[in-house]
Amino acid sequence: MGNVGGVSGANRLKSQVVESLTPLKKPLFHLWFKILLGLVLLMLCFTLSSGSLTWMTSPLQGHYHRLLNWTNLLEVPFSNKIHPSPTVNLSEIEETTQSHTELPTALPTAAPTGTLYHQAYPRNYHFIMNNPEVCKTKTPFLILMVPVAPGNLEARDAIRQTWGNGSVVQGEVVVTLFMLGLSEEADVQQQEKLQQENLQHHDLIQSNFMDTYLNLTIKTMVIMDWLATFCPTAAYGMKIDSDMFLNIDNLVIMLRMPGIPQVNYLTGMLMWSREVVRSMGSKWYVSEELYPDPLYPTYTLGMGYVFSNDLPRKYVDISISIKTFNIEDAYIGVCMKKLGIEPISPPNPSQFRAYNVKYDRCEYSQIITYILGSAQELINYWTDLKRPEPPC
Ligand SMILES: *[C@@H]1O[C@H](CO)[C@@H](O)[C@H](O)[C@H]1NC(C)=O
Ligand SMILES: *[C@@H]1O[C@H](CO)[C@@H](O)[C@H](O)[C@H]1NC(C)=O
Ligand SMILES: *[C@@H]1O[C@H](CO)[C@@H](O)[C@H](O)[C@H]1NC(C)=O
Ligand SMILES: *[C@@H]1O[C@H](CO)[C@@H](O)[C@H](O)[C@H]1NC(C)=O
Repeated sequence: MGNVGGVSGANRLKSQVVESLTPLKKPLFHLWFKILLGLVLLMLCFTLSSGSLTWMTSPLQGHYHRLLNWTNLLEVPFSNKIHPSPTVNLSEIEETTQSHTELPTALPTAAPTGTLYHQAYPRNYHFIMNNPEVCKTKTPFLILMVPVAPGNLEARDAIRQTWGNGSVVQGEVVVTLFMLGLSEEADVQQQEKLQQENLQHHDLIQSNFMDTYLNLTIKTMVIMDWLATFCPTAAYGMKIDSDMFLNIDNLVIMLRMPGIPQVNYLTGMLMWSREVVRSMGSKWYVSEELYPDPLYPTYTLGMGYVFSNDLPRKYVDISISIKTFNIEDAYIGVCMKKLGIEPISPPNPSQFRAYNVKYDRCEYSQIITYILGSAQELINYWTDLKRPEPPC
């Protein structure tokens, strides 16, 4: 383990070949690289000074940059435009790696011996904290799964006071759970605090993978495994990030609209024909070995996507044949493509919004998602929205 990408024998060979060629290319490459870098910096300074990119400066919002690839964002902001279907050759990314033979063998549903698993295959991991009874005592219409870092109690508490507090929304049962991995510095004290927190709220699920940024795909797949195993009776699920504003009433209203599919349904803010980031050093860098195609298939932005609850099982099953790469939302897109299912635009696509420019009560009463800057913002906006006066 320890290699997010698991390098297969064939790929190792490939990278050796590439390495043996690179010395020839280096001087020329360096020159061009420097010229390009200079140009990019110049353009960046210019754009920043004109103020049009100020929304990118918040670190919390930072991890969405890649999706809103500047040129694309500026050209087609949140539009409902139908893009041509991306041409992704999936057969090229299906090969299994051999890097997981040493994974813990604590597989709840044991695999046939000899089968080798990908790093994102959730059954490589097991739950060390669980609330398996949640969906036995009730049948949720909607279950919200929030990936969050073990140490981020502030975000969890803000969610518990706001969109995560309602157990009945618009007459439907809604459940909110938090998904955690292991913190990097095996912190015994923190683990005890988590136990206490779970005793109080009964809403933490923890699995034994390392909770790091590069492991977000594992986290998402563990969420899918939990849903498939412990909550198959829920009608819909949502993966929603912990830094989000969620107008939960509007979401339930949307899901009850006539014509909303009950199976094979994935919706959210759709991303079409997104280019894979190939610049090393980028947070979203994905090597061609992990994902050879230049474009991702259509996917839903990871901040918050909603799915019919038959899909988690299908994702888990298909993930065994899809090589892990670290972009969790695009990974779900690849699962969809492989399953032969298209993500569907929400009835009103403008309800799924990424960046929050400024709080506007009327607007927040009409949307479903917005990315926020802090837990305090969530509490403030939510409290304000819930005032009795009409929002518009
Ligand atoms: C996809 O890739 C495989 C393996 O490289 C190749 O055999 C196949 O023809 C490709 N399919 C398309 C549609 O390009
Ligand atoms: C959740 O809402 C109820 C009222 O419906 C309130 O009494 C309770 O304090 C809230 N929980 C939290 C954690 O804010
Ligand atoms: C991802 O999680 C696995 C399993 O816990 C761990 O071995 C690996 O080091 C983690 N990778 C990163 C990049 O954090
Ligand atoms: C963003 O999109 C443009 C146009 O599609 C492309 O040329 C550029 O390489 C992309 N940048 C990144 C970082 O993906």
